[in-house]
Amino acid sequence: MASTQAVQGAQVLVASNRGPVSYTVDEDGSLRARRGGGGLVSGLSAIGPEAGALWVCSALSDGDREAVRRGVGEDGVRMLDIPADVHADAYNGIANSVLWFVHHMLYQTPLEPVFDAEFRRQWASYETYNRAFAEALAEEAAPGAAVLVQDYHLTLVPGMLRALRPDLRIGHFSHTPWAPPEYFRMLPDDIAGQVLRGMLGADRLGFLTRRWADAFTACCERFADGLGNTRIGVHGLGADADFLRARSHEADVEERIVALRQEIGTAPDGGARRTIVRVDRTELSKNIVRGLLAYRQLLEDHPEWRERIAHVAFAYPSRQDLAVYRDYTAEVRRVAEEINERYGTPGWRPVVLHLEDDFARSLAAYRIADVALVNPVRDGMNLVAKEVPVVSDAGCALVLSREAGAHEELGEDAITVNPYDVVETARALHEALTTGPEERVERSKRLAAAATALPPAQWFLDQLNALREGTPG
Ligand code: F6P
Repeated sequence: MASTQAVQGAQVLVASNRGPVSYTVDEDGSLRARRGGGGLVSGLSAIGPEAGALWVCSALSDGDREAVRRGVGEDGVRMLDIPADVHADAYNGIANSVLWFVHHMLYQTPLEPVFDAEFRRQWASYETYNRAFAEALAEEAAPGAAVLVQDYHLTLVPGMLRALRPDLRIGHFSHTPWAPPEYFRMLPDDIAGQVLRGMLGADRLGFLTRRWADAFTACCERFADGLGNTRIGVHGLGADADFLRARSHEADVEERIVALRQEIGTAPDGGARRTIVRVDRTELSKNIVRGLLAYRQLLEDHPEWRERIAHVAFAYPSRQDLAVYRDYTAEVRRVAEEINERYGTPGWRPVVLHLEDDFARSLAAYRIADVALVNPVRDGMNLVAKEVPVVSDAGCALVLSREAGAHEELGEDAITVNPYDVVETARALHEALTTGPEERVERSKRLAAAATALPPAQWFLDQLNALREGTPG
């Protein structure tokens, strides 16, 4: 565990849309709290109670809003009761439908985007939502406190907070890619300028890879007066090996391994079927449909694999308020069913698809994976690519998109694919399935070592220390 000394004396605040806890209202009216995991939660736990840490987040559900109204909360968390319609405009309308699409280059450009009056109305909500965070942080922060603002939901906060509280150390971290200037310029000029100026209100900006950091710098050079006094740092969040190794051997995971093996079934020779595993939120950038098409191509090009392999695909619901996400989920299901109808036999379901979120089952799939398929069209990092090699029982091969941030660290021992090229991806899956066991184990060990080089606690402390010390980079 990293030392807490380095941050002594400084109050630390974190700001993000989604906080570490969420509430539901039970039938009897009582509130039930559910604590989330993830890199930030374990990162923040590394700084120790003397830092007086406070996490400012938004109420997201009716349960959260009810908790705020009743004054129910957790120490160290302040949930903002932003009106539901303002939040919906900011989160669904701007953050997830515009900024997310720009940074992941997801627009189908002949039809989208259209920056119309409705967009302008939603943008005003995005400003209101960012201002609510800036005001809460300004109110809560002790003199000279360090504030770490997270992600594309809150790009305006650093600038707004700087104006309110020039004494603070302000950092911002992007968990997504950053679009290169040729794509970023798609935003209306005044909006692009506002985003860049908002971000440049920070003392220091963090990115997951050098590529995204360079894209941001290039945008500032093209559309603003450069970076000014803002410093840039790269922090490649790694997998939490200790947590994953312990959690993946708990009883519920063992149970799910048994159930999954049953679902997958055995090959005609009675041996275990080989498994190609993927686990994603059903997110457009994750490229699940092309992954399924590549698997279908594999079954076409290499009929010898039929009945001897299974594609275990977990596609968990995400952002279901947006029609485009619901449609994408339906398409994932449709293509998986089509493959099962076309190739399946009475004893073999080629695609084992699950759409209900279950972390223990994800870990079970990681453990039995022979091959992990991670093929996003674009991804800030992609932690699945880092988690599978850490957890897999017998060492797994990794087929990895060159467009995932994780590729910068894992590219050498992964099998690299262009995520748009389903023929190449099918070939890569075949290569992964035919890699000899010794080479696979060796590569998997090297992947696990690279994947855990910067665990969440150190990732968080590195940023905090660099922000407080004012060190370059
Ligand atoms: O990748 C960006 C990010 O905000 C992650 O930090 C997070 O895990 C993911 O998107 C989930 O997004 P949402 O909060 O919309 O479910």
